[in-house]
Parts: sequence; C-alpha cells; structure tokens
Amino acid sequence: MTYATILYEAADGIVTITLNRPEVHNAMNERMRQELTRCFGDLATSDEARVVVVTGAGERAFSAGADIREFVEPQVPVRFRESRKRVDFRQAMDRCPQPIIGAIRGYALGGGLELALACDIRIAGEDAQLGLTEVNLAIIPGGGGTQRLPRLVGRGRALEMILTGARIDAREAWRIGLVERVVPAADVLAAARELARTLAEKAPVALRYAKEAVVKGLELPLADGLRLENDLATLLRTTEDRVEGAKAFLEKRKPRFTGK
Ligand code: COA
Repeated sequence: MTYATILYEAADGIVTITLNRPEVHNAMNERMRQELTRCFGDLATSDEARVVVVTGAGERAFSAGADIREFVEPQVPVRFRESRKRVDFRQAMDRCPQPIIGAIRGYALGGGLELALACDIRIAGEDAQLGLTEVNLAIIPGGGGTQRLPRLVGRGRALEMILTGARIDAREAWRIGLVERVVPAADVLAAARELARTLAEKAPVALRYAKEAVVKGLELPLADGLRLENDLATLLRTTEDRVEGAKAFLEKRKPRFTGK
C-alpha cells in the first residue's frame, strides 16, 4: 500500500503507520485524513495484521494537529456538508479490530492528541507534550477530543485541558491516566514494538474479541456489556486455538496459534 502522507510497514503481523510530514510536525492535512481513513478501513478486513502501531516521523512530534494552513480559507457550506458525509478516521480506528498502540514523541496537539486518544494503549516519551489546543484558534476539538478525553481522564481534568488549551508533559499525562506508560524519548518506538510483539503472539481472535468486549462494552449499560462479553467468550470456546492453547499448556510448550 502506498500513501503520500503516511508510511505503512507490515512485518510479522505488526503494522506500523507513521505520520510522515515531519517538516510541519506531522500536521494533518486533508490528504492525510483521507489516507488514514482508507488505511484503517482496509485494516478492518485484514487477517494478517494482528497489532497496529501509530507513530510520527522525526523526533519532535507525534502530530501537531490539523494543518492550520487549511484554516485560512473559511469553510463554505458545501464543503461542510461533504465533511459531514465522511467517516472521521478516528471512527475508522474505533472499528479497527486490531489493538492500536500509540507511540508518542514530542508534540501531540489538537487532532494529533485526538488521534492518540483513539489508540487503545498510549506509550509516551519523556519529551511528550500533550494538549487539546483548539480553543486557542477559536475552535473546539472536532475529532472526538471532547468525547474521548473525559471518558479517559474524567470530566474536570478534560474540561481544564479543553478550556485552557494548555499543554501537559508526559509525567502529568501519565498521572492523570492519559498515557499508559512513559519511557525515555529515544525508546518510544522500541517499547511500542515490543508490546506489539507480545500482543501479536496471542491467539488473534481472542485478541480481537477482548478489544471488542472492552471498547464496545464501555458504551453499553453493564447488563448489555456482560451479555456481549458472554457471547464473545462463548464464541471463543469454538476455536481451534482454544484447543491448541490448552494442549500447549499441558505439554509445557509454546502454543502455535493459527487464528482458526
Ligand atoms: N499546522 C500547520 N503547520 C504547522 C502546524 C500545524 N498544526 N504546527 C506546526 N507547523 C509548522 C510551522 O508553521 C513551522 O513551519 P515553517 O517552518 O514553514 O514556519 C513548522 O511546522 C515548525 O513549527 P514551529 O512552530 O516553527 O516549531 P516550534 O518548535 O517553535 O513549535 C509547536 C512547535 C507545535 C508548539 C507549534 O508549531 C504550534 O503551536 N503548532 C500549532 C499546534 C496547534 O495548535 N495544533 C492544533 C491545531 S487545531
């Protein structure tokens, strides 16, 4: 798969997507948004891809958000209507069955942080600076930030970040639960890949259903979430991998999962 604004690498079941506009701190223009939508849409039907890592090119930024140069032209109604029809790429990420790990160095601002928020697990470098800075540009987060941030860190902390448009550093982000891990800046991608390898060794269908149960379950009343969990757990009892997992345990060897 070739793209103009992102790099796509796939090896050993791990897909790495690199936002690749380092000259503008990986700011997201319309082309990048379209390519990310296509890329995550395609991943939804891929059996080979087991885990996805998302990162930014260069050492200074994950992404500094929407390309502000595109803001200079006011949006005409027809463009607005077109954009209403589009699937936001972060929703395509929600539909992506594989776990998505965000590897965040440097700036993750505005839409860049919203992209990180749509990842399942976030690993930040000690140099990370995170913020929903839209209010400083007379707009509000429009890529899920007002919804995903409070679900992750709570209403008060989310509102403080969104209303001030201030940036926080990696330690503070870890303290409030906005990132799962902080590592030395140079180790971010290696740490994300190591976690990805660990996940890629698990039975693929179990991995997907575990993500589905958690992500969809969070949107459901508890009784419906428990029902979903029960259905997925029951389905998993029908897989060949379940038999293989049990045999491998009893034979004291590593399992060979096939995704069947
Ligand atoms: N859109 C378009 N271009 C951007 C950008 C963005 N979101 N963020 C950075 N750039 C560009 C700069 O214009 C600059 O381009 P130039 O070299 O042609 O002048 C280049 O990236 C480097 O950025 P610069 O501002 O010089 O780097 P810095 O280290 O001094 O500051 C930031 C880095 C991220 C703090 C600063 O660029 C910034 O505040 N960016 C905007 C972030 C933002 O508000 N995002 C939310 C958008 S809704």
